[in-house]
Amino acid sequence: MAQGLTAKQIEAYGRDGFLLIENFASREECAELKNRADELVEAFDPEGVISIFTTREQTRSSDQYFLDSGDKIRFFFEEDAFSPDGSLKHGKARSINKIGHALHILDPVFERFSRKPELAAIATSLGIEDPLMLQSMYIFKQPNIGGEVTCHQDATFLYTDPISVTGFWFALEDATLENGCLHAIPGGHKHGLKKRFVRNESDGTQFEVFDDSPWQDDLAIPIEAPAGTLVILHGLLPHLSYANRSPKSRHAFTLHVIDRACDYPADNWLRRESSKFQGLKFKPLRLMEIKLKSCVLRRWKTGDEESLIRHANNYKIWRNVRDRFPHPYTLEDARMWIDYSQREDPQTGFAIVVDGKAVGGIGVIPQTDIYRRTAEIGYWLGEEFWGRGIMTEAVKAVTDWAFENFEICRIYAGVLEWNPGSMKVLEKAGYRFEARLRMAATKEDTTMDDFIYSVVR
Ligand code: FE2
Repeated sequence: MAQGLTAKQIEAYGRDGFLLIENFASREECAELKNRADELVEAFDPEGVISIFTTREQTRSSDQYFLDSGDKIRFFFEEDAFSPDGSLKHGKARSINKIGHALHILDPVFERFSRKPELAAIATSLGIEDPLMLQSMYIFKQPNIGGEVTCHQDATFLYTDPISVTGFWFALEDATLENGCLHAIPGGHKHGLKKRFVRNESDGTQFEVFDDSPWQDDLAIPIEAPAGTLVILHGLLPHLSYANRSPKSRHAFTLHVIDRACDYPADNWLRRESSKFQGLKFKPLRLMEIKLKSCVLRRWKTGDEESLIRHANNYKIWRNVRDRFPHPYTLEDARMWIDYSQREDPQTGFAIVVDGKAVGGIGVIPQTDIYRRTAEIGYWLGEEFWGRGIMTEAVKAVTDWAFENFEICRIYAGVLEWNPGSMKVLEKAGYRFEARLRMAATKEDTTMDDFIYSVVR
């Protein structure tokens, strides 16, 4: 079990609004994240983006580039990176201010680091009930041109009601007075939120000011942090960093976490188009595995593609499942499915594995609205494994698992009239025939009855 914070650390954090944990990340982890950022920059074509920052429409287009970045990996330049003619003064690798804002979701290296169990344990010990990683940034603070970040509170930019945003700031290189380390006003988190950065109706942004008194920057103390240090920052803590005029860079990775139990107003700048919050839990993915006599149930993983296609690409299977199940089942379909399943949190489905090969799939779909205490179960199995009792065992196990892991009291399945095999599976797994929905389903040119089986607890 990963350790959270000690009582002493929690007390210091409560008093100061920040806390340093040295050696949180190993030298290797820092190097891995730095290398990964280099690779991302290397693969990034700056042409289109440079024009966004240098055209006459500059404010408008750079605003849009920023506002859409909540669910993307985007690159932002240092203000001093450009010559008057709009070209970069130095190469792109020396010109980028930061990468944001969904590295922790979209990049496997940053995702793995962000889901370290030690972080989840710290979030829990800080009293964050349902931690959600909202935003991540890789900050370069480039040598000589690394820009100043003026005094601010993170809750200005990521607002919840009540305020819950917490910053996890990882020094990947030594952060010193010379290269622009963080500064913060100790105890400054106790004086409320001064302003909010919100989207306005014309899809621009503006500040909503609650208190326009200036920051007392002179009270800010430097937070020097050797590489590997984690600095935890309270969302209301006033903090800043001065420009880096030294020849040394000051790389850092940051994660901002909110409590999903709090309200996240829609006028926050950061939005995610699809699946607003899904799959972003701070907790490490649970690698759930259920060992049964005839098979193992586990999460789909990279490497299952070939076996998935081999067994799923079968008309006899397709004719008994929803049309959204692909047919023919291509490599692209397999990759998309596996990618989706690997990230899904909470996990709702499993691969059915026989002799080390994924030969089928099973999962539940929790319903919504007034059906929120109901889930549908669905499954399929490669033809060569039919008739061995595998499916019955899997349905039983997943039914038990779903009752334990979701707040549901009913699981049902719809079976097409022409599929008595599946009805038998459900009956053997403890489901009861409940209804015959007349002419309810159409597969290809045939419209037929749908048989509903259910189990309630
Ligand atoms: Fe900040």
